Amino acid sequence: MRFATRLIHAAYDPDQHQRAVMPPIYQNSMFAMREIGENIPYKYSRLSNPTRQILENTVAELEHGTHGFAFASGIAGIDCIFRTVLRPGDTVVAVRDIYGGSYDLLNNVYAAWGVDVVFADLDDAAALDNILAEKRVKLLWLESPSNPLLRLNDIALLAQKAKAAGAWVGIDNTFATPYLQNPLDLGCDIVFHSATKYLCGHSDVLMGVAAVKDDALARDLGKMLIETGAVAGPMDCWLVLRGIKTLSVRMKQHCANALELAQRLQNHAAVAQVYYPGLPCHEHHELAKRQMRGFGGVVTIVLKNNTVQAANRVIQNLQLVQMASSLGGVESLVNHCYSQSHSGMSPALKRELGIGEGLLRFSVGIEDIEDIWADIDGALRA
Ligand SMILES: Cc1ncc(COP(=O)(O)O)c(C=O)c1O
Repeated sequence: MRFATRLIHAAYDPDQHQRAVMPPIYQNSMFAMREIGENIPYKYSRLSNPTRQILENTVAELEHGTHGFAFASGIAGIDCIFRTVLRPGDTVVAVRDIYGGSYDLLNNVYAAWGVDVVFADLDDAAALDNILAEKRVKLLWLESPSNPLLRLNDIALLAQKAKAAGAWVGIDNTFATPYLQNPLDLGCDIVFHSATKYLCGHSDVLMGVAAVKDDALARDLGKMLIETGAVAGPMDCWLVLRGIKTLSVRMKQHCANALELAQRLQNHAAVAQVYYPGLPCHEHHELAKRQMRGFGGVVTIVLKNNTVQAANRVIQNLQLVQMASSLGGVESLVNHCYSQSHSGMSPALKRELGIGEGLLRFSVGIEDIEDIWADIDGALRA
């Protein structure tokens, strides 16, 4: 089956569920046993639940893994992955321009717990060589494209280097989705998504998912998920399963709208810079063409008037595009990363990373592009 077909049919067998065409919601916390020690497939929904299992198997299929996991939120998923792999004294190397919540988790929780947290600009793979020569790295954590500057990591090259040094390699694939890239095929051990975003696609669920293809790693991750308990609920799993069915058509439209918007914004009098991997001027455009099957649905701009006041004026003048702290839904959104998604970073670090006060991240929805353009263009001119 090809990708669009697998989105709808992978990992679900109606014969096992009363021929229900859609996966049922097993909204149970437990399953009854007839006698002590009876071996039944599901016992308690923290351990496993049929609806969650269908979703986990679907994610594993779509990411070319063998085991899937569904967590109560994206951050709960990243935490579960880190806790499975890292112990106090271990070193984790994470890409420097990383989602603000992952930065906070590493900095405020893992560093305080005694993990050696190294943030590195891995544009030049030699930077990773230097770290690997100096330290015994346990985990390399990538994010490509990154939030919000849409910078890419050369996944295959970095994974190969880290694996040769004995490290696990995980990647946050939230922005790309399995529609655009499959990092397990490029050498990663763990692929993660905030399913809150594109996999759900309708802005009504918080969830993280992950897929792996190593049996021992899967066993440890599954055990950690059960023992720490941040599992996704059945209703949320059902909603994400429903969202996944349309991932292909949604992503096609997100990508087309985002490219068109990025091209038009490039020539806008109020815009100093546009970040979109589909633009030839993007620093990782060639890598994006080689590594991804499209360029994604997020476009980031820096206003010529790079101030919070100017950014706020644009936000206040938007009618259709709403300001909200997320992305990946069918509706277009704008995020002021400086004060929202990356508020946990110091002003100096945000400046160093290029996340200025006049930077706006658009999650380009699947509305008609002319309506999106009219709204954004109008707000930028007002
Ligand atoms: C790239 C990325 N990773 C992880 C997360 C965290 O996911 P959640 O908000 O579902 O916990 C987010 C949320 O914005 C994100 O954008």
